[in-house]
Amino acid sequence: MKVIICEDYASQCSAGADIIEKIVREKPDCCLGLATGSSPVGMYQELARRCREEGLDFSKVSTVNLDEYIGLEPTHNQSYRYFMDTNLFNHINIDRNNTYVAKGTGDIEANIEEFRAVIAGSTVELQVLGVGPDGHLAFNEPGKELYWHAHKETLDESTIDANARFFASRDEVPRYAVTMGMGEIMMAKRLLMILSGANKADAARQLLMSDAITCSCPATLMKLHRDATVILTRELADIIGYTA
Ligand code: GLP
Repeated sequence: MKVIICEDYASQCSAGADIIEKIVREKPDCCLGLATGSSPVGMYQELARRCREEGLDFSKVSTVNLDEYIGLEPTHNQSYRYFMDTNLFNHINIDRNNTYVAKGTGDIEANIEEFRAVIAGSTVELQVLGVGPDGHLAFNEPGKELYWHAHKETLDESTIDANARFFASRDEVPRYAVTMGMGEIMMAKRLLMILSGANKADAARQLLMSDAITCSCPATLMKLHRDATVILTRELADIIGYTA
């Protein structure tokens, strides 16, 4: 795994944007795998700035997102469709018809079938990843086993706690989600994780300071990927004692 240490969040976002920009310029009709969460927000803002000011062209790019809460309409301000529209898609020249976020309402089994088919039909050039404090990737929660394909996941109590900050109360946080499976994530040609924050120290330690690959920290599967990059803040590197 390649690890890039950045002095602060702004340079972390810029380093991530550099990697994505290079892919988009080399392959204007690429498919990008995208993630939600606060970690990639600054990188999305930087990509939007480059689109606006430097002509970075997303008009032929397509995207597929990692996950969606079950029970939230796409128009709900905490749905991941809404997150992607407001944090990225509305600010770049992408064709919204070429963006895919799984549906979290209606017939969930049918939605999962559709999600699996979209993933199977896409060659993801690069998959953006964040990590949950419990080590989850997308919404693949720690447990005895992980799953290859997109599926319904029951969120861990710690994930509900972590994501409660975005909702008016903890009770409003959905208990279930549809998520891309670990195998599908690993099929992306490249993985790019944006990693910061003291609450990620345990996951970061397991990812960067240990050789183990475990279902109890799904992020550790990244170690199996041929072309995975972690962009880490200096602060978190110091907390876990990571030196390049
Ligand atoms: C959610 C998402 C994950 C994301 C995680 C971390 O649970 N499903 O894909 O990586 O949040 O979010 P943050 O970057 O806000 O810490």
